[in-house]
Amino acid sequence: MVELDEIFKKAKAELNSIKDTAELNNFYQQYLGKTGIITQSLRNMKDLPNEDKKTFGMKLNSVKNELFILIKNKEKSFEIEKIEQKISKTKDIDLTTPCQEKRGSLHPITILQNRLIDIFLSMGFTVEDGNEIETEYNNFEAVNIPKNHPARDMQDTFYLENGQVLKTHTSAAQNRIMRKYGAPLKAIFPGRCFRNEELDASHENTFFQIEGMMIDKDVSVANLIYFMEEMLKNVFQKEIKVRLRPGFFPFVEPGFELDISCPYCDGRGCRVCKHGGWIELCPCGMIHPEVLKMGGIDPEEYQGFAFGLGFSRLAMMTYDITEIRLLNSGNIKALSQAKIK
Ligand code: PHE
Repeated sequence: MVELDEIFKKAKAELNSIKDTAELNNFYQQYLGKTGIITQSLRNMKDLPNEDKKTFGMKLNSVKNELFILIKNKEKSFEIEKIEQKISKTKDIDLTTPCQEKRGSLHPITILQNRLIDIFLSMGFTVEDGNEIETEYNNFEAVNIPKNHPARDMQDTFYLENGQVLKTHTSAAQNRIMRKYGAPLKAIFPGRCFRNEELDASHENTFFQIEGMMIDKDVSVANLIYFMEEMLKNVFQKEIKVRLRPGFFPFVEPGFELDISCPYCDGRGCRVCKHGGWIELCPCGMIHPEVLKMGGIDPEEYQGFAFGLGFSRLAMMTYDITEIRLLNSGNIKALSQAKIK
């Protein structure tokens, strides 16, 4: 034990006089390397009488650890010295200049998507993925839009040579998700959608939606209204009223257009809501029994609601963006004006 104290004292003195990394490496080998003094002592411990093993072992370990820390500190001080030398030699670095670098940020759509995901997760929904390339069956037939149905006209899209399509709506994942989980289920699935559109300030060929689906026993329109109001309260940070108007979609019965009281003027009427007090937000409805059946769910036993919320419109409202094409433009100057709260 006394010998160990001596070794430690000597080592500390040696360490103080070390001047560079090469010397430090030698020092490390001499004490803590494979054949170093401390490592050897650890090996020799087996020859000690049993009663001494524990105290000696503890002491040896603490010396080893302390030495290791001292070596690491010395190493760090050499690194700092090196950097300081470099800086003192360089005349063209002025560390007092304010940082000019522009900080990036996530895209407004991504920010909104993450926010909506958090909100729905907190209400017990799972988050699912959808494909961007879909079979015609999933995009159309499985949501009650057979070949030659006029609803296909409104959702003209890009057909691939293999007969698959770029999905026109997030509803294209409904069938797969019903088959994957069965009932009951509560899921949202955000995704990029595509349509063959005439482009203008509010129509794009690529846009983002988030689909929501809840299927259980005794689900009604009241559940739909409840979840939409909760989501909106969270997004706009205040109470938002909703109203339903009849709307036709082959995969819901009854189907609705959901309007919200204008978040800008609280329904009093302003330029944004065109003085009507209401803004159209998203289509929704009770899932059609045929759609449940095609998803392997018995419509006699289960009901469900579904909605398809367009992100672009919500992002434009939430972040005061006036031109939908800006959202896909990659124009950083324009996008950075989005008022992300
Ligand atoms: N998929 C429809 C669309 O994009 C929206 C929708 C979803 C309507 C769910 C009703 C229920 O046009």
